[in-house]
Amino acid sequence: MLTTDKFGEVAGHAVTAYTIENHNGVQLTVLDYGATWHALNVPTPDGSHQNLILNTDLAGYAKPDGYFGKAIGRFAGRVGAGQLVLDGQPVAVPANEGTTTLHGGPNGFSTLFFKAAAAADHVTFTRTVTPETDGFPGTLEVSVTYTLTEADEVVIDFTGATDQTTVFNPTNHVYWNLNSADDTIENHTLQLAATSHYELEPSKVLTGAVVANADTPYDFRGPRLLGPALRDLQVIPEAGLDDVFAIDDHAATEPVAVLSQGQRQVTMYSARNAVVVFTSNHFGDELHFLRHQSRPYVGIAMEAQTSAAGLVDPDLTQATLAAGTSRHEQIRYAFKY
Ligand code: GAL
Repeated sequence: MLTTDKFGEVAGHAVTAYTIENHNGVQLTVLDYGATWHALNVPTPDGSHQNLILNTDLAGYAKPDGYFGKAIGRFAGRVGAGQLVLDGQPVAVPANEGTTTLHGGPNGFSTLFFKAAAAADHVTFTRTVTPETDGFPGTLEVSVTYTLTEADEVVIDFTGATDQTTVFNPTNHVYWNLNSADDTIENHTLQLAATSHYELEPSKVLTGAVVANADTPYDFRGPRLLGPALRDLQVIPEAGLDDVFAIDDHAATEPVAVLSQGQRQVTMYSARNAVVVFTSNHFGDELHFLRHQSRPYVGIAMEAQTSAAGLVDPDLTQATLAAGTSRHEQIRYAFKY
C-alpha cells in the first residue's frame, strides 16, 4: 500500500514523502529530495510503531553533512586530492572536505531532487546527472529504487548508465538505532564479514595498505558488543569507528553485516567489496534528529560500497563505469523486530 504526503520545501522545490506499508504493518518512508530513506517504522508489541533509523527535518537534510538516509554518489567515501584517474588520466572533481571529495562532492546525489515513480511496493527515483550538475565526467542516468518486501526487507537497487567514462559507486547513508528508548548504539552487537580493513591517512583517505583485523579493536568477525569495542577506540582521535572494512569473498546469500539489539536485528547483504562503518563519534548539538538527542554513538551507518583502493592502485578500480555502459548495484537489508 502506498501513500504520498507533502513533506515541505527546500530551495523552492516541493519535497514529497512516499510511504509503503506491507502486510506485516512495516512502513518504509522515502523522500524525492536526495532519494532519502526517511523512516522504517516497525510494529511494536503495544500496537504502535517505532522508527529504527535516524531521521531529521528538511533543515537537517539540507545541511552539507546531512547525509542521513540519503542516496550517496557518484562516489561513496573519499576521493583524495579531489582527483580520479580514469583511462590513466587524472580527472579533477570538486572537493567538499579540504582537498577531499567526500560522498560525491558538494553537489552529489544527496543534494539533488529526483523524479519519482511510485507503486504499491516500491518507489523509483530517477535523475540525469550531468558534469554541470556535480562536476564529474559523463552524463549519468541514475535510478534508485526502494522496495519493501513482504518478507520484511528493504532492497535498494541503484543503476547508472553513462555516455563517457566516469565512476559509479553509490550507497545509502542510513544510520540505525534499534533501541526502543533514546539510548545510544553501545548496547548493539555488530558482526562483519571482514578479516581486514584499510589503513587511512589522517584525512581518512586510503593509503592502499590493508591491515588484518584479528586481535585488534576492528575484529567483528563474530558478534561483538559495540560499547566495549568503542571504549577500546578512545585512544584514537576518532574515538570510534569510521573505517573502511574490506569485505571477504562471499556468496550472495551470506550477509556482510549483522547489527542486533535484543530481538531486533538488521542483516545487510551486498556483493560489493567494502563496508564503511561510522558510529557518529563526534555528533553533538549541531545536529537535530526527530526522535533522538544528537550525541556521540547515537547511530551507526553501515555503508556498502566499492572500496576506494582503486583510486590508489588503478589495477583495483572497480568503481569505474566505462563510456556507453551501465551497472546495477544492490543493497538488501532484512530486519527482525
Ligand atoms: C561517513 C564518513 C564519515 C563522515 C560521515 C558523514 O561515510 O566516513 O567520516 O563524513 O560519512 O557525516
